[in-house]
Amino acid sequence: MKPRIFVADTSKELLSQAAADFLALVSEVLESKPVANIILTGGSLGIAMVGELAKLNLDLSKVRFMFGDERFVALDHEDRNEYQGISVFPELATRSLLRYPASDTELLAGQALMNKAMTISYGSSEDTSDVFDLVILGVGPDGHVASLFPGHQSNGEWITAEWDSPKPPSERLSLSYRTLNRANQVWFLASGAQKAAVVRSALGDPNCELPLAKVRGLQSTSWYLDKELSDAL
Ligand code: 6PG
Repeated sequence: MKPRIFVADTSKELLSQAAADFLALVSEVLESKPVANIILTGGSLGIAMVGELAKLNLDLSKVRFMFGDERFVALDHEDRNEYQGISVFPELATRSLLRYPASDTELLAGQALMNKAMTISYGSSEDTSDVFDLVILGVGPDGHVASLFPGHQSNGEWITAEWDSPKPPSERLSLSYRTLNRANQVWFLASGAQKAAVVRSALGDPNCELPLAKVRGLQSTSWYLDKELSDAL
């Protein structure tokens, strides 16, 4: 299935378009389901996107959010994705966000807890049917998505534990490839020329092994790029 590619002049316009599309997607999902299941992402564009979602006046009793990965630090550490997300969208703290364990436990124990929480919410991790309506992902210049890095193994059921992330902080929990691939739609948000090489490879090379090439939507995959990145493709 061919991906949909949207190119905006600036990151700001890219986010406005993604937010407008998000509103349309949630309205459509809620025509046939009681709740929309959305995976958010960390990183600069990912958290700016959460800030855009805060402006949409969503009915939070009908949208369930979770981050696709979490930095495994203390609960109140400013590196945590949820800390950053809540700082731009405070209502996320009061409802609707499935939160990851923090570093007051061991990483493996955190992974096990999160695997259990996901199984309670979504059933077996072995299935391949859709569980999310949308997965939003940022992209690293090395081609990583969520906390799935090139050359590192995805070692879990629903959740992968990462001990040695090349992007600090080093310990992280992440949705696994199998989990990320259980969304009807996947949206990649990427800006800046330094990410052009990996995006070019994911879009043009059928044998690309980078993490960003290993995730796609069950129904559709979309790329939101800025002009700087697109011009460098
Ligand atoms: C994280 C992310 C990570 C991020 C990319 C892009 O927690 O670090 O989930 O996958 O989305 O590294 O980040 P930027 O938008 O800041 O480049």
